[in-house]
Amino acid sequence: MINISEDNRRPGVFWAHLESGAKRPATKNLIPGTTVYNEQIISKKSQEYRIWDPYRSKLSAALLRGLEAFAFTPKLSVLYLGASSGTTASHVSDLIGSGGRVYCIEFAPRVMRDLVQVCATRKNMIPILADARYPESYVLIPELVDILYQDVAQPNQAKILVQNAKRFLKPGGTAYVSVKARSIDVAAKPSRIFDREEKTLKKSGFTVVDRISLDPFSADHIFLSAIFGER
Ligand SMILES: C[S@@+](CC[C@H](N)C(=O)[O-])C[C@H]1O[C@@H](n2cnc3c(N)ncnc32)[C@H](O)[C@@H]1O
Repeated sequence: MINISEDNRRPGVFWAHLESGAKRPATKNLIPGTTVYNEQIISKKSQEYRIWDPYRSKLSAALLRGLEAFAFTPKLSVLYLGASSGTTASHVSDLIGSGGRVYCIEFAPRVMRDLVQVCATRKNMIPILADARYPESYVLIPELVDILYQDVAQPNQAKILVQNAKRFLKPGGTAYVSVKARSIDVAAKPSRIFDREEKTLKKSGFTVVDRISLDPFSADHIFLSAIFGER
């Protein structure tokens, strides 16, 4: 039997205790009776929980690796760069609830088709076919957001984050970026690349509050959490 417990420090996050002894993050399903990526659903006391796969979602992996700076709460607005078919974005959608919004930027038409299906069911997810390197192309977003999340596996990841933050992130808002060393430079030592990306954020007005290795869930990746501008 799988047991579910609440995370006392991160509202909206639950822990599924698997029969194997392992634990996995989980979120309350905003749209009961539906799944997004064939994830396991657990029902307890008339609530549905979606088990959040750390091998498919870097935010889940970061939680398992002890992410402290967890800012997702109900009603917040999130700009999500590199939403793909909506795996992680759908858990964010659970966390911010029906009063929040996730603007999902994705540039690959093939995955966008799946993302649009997910957004049709989850009304707090808004799909936008656009390139995150050109934030001026989605100025239609009608607000500054509380959280900027980036998982695009591109060179210049920190630079893309900074460009988007300047346009869309509230001062004091939180940014998360998953940095994949091999997308930036296959030859360089990962730790060097990570230091360089972190430095770019610091030089651009961010305070980096967390740096987490995502091994063994995603090799050669780190997950940075940073606060933008004034706290
Ligand atoms: C690692 S996958 C994202 C997985 C997703 N974040 C999740 O956890 O469910 C990276 C995604 O970023 C998209 N991507 C890469 N560069 C992009 C860009 N410049 N603008 C928009 N999307 C981009 C890719 O098409 C791909 O779907």
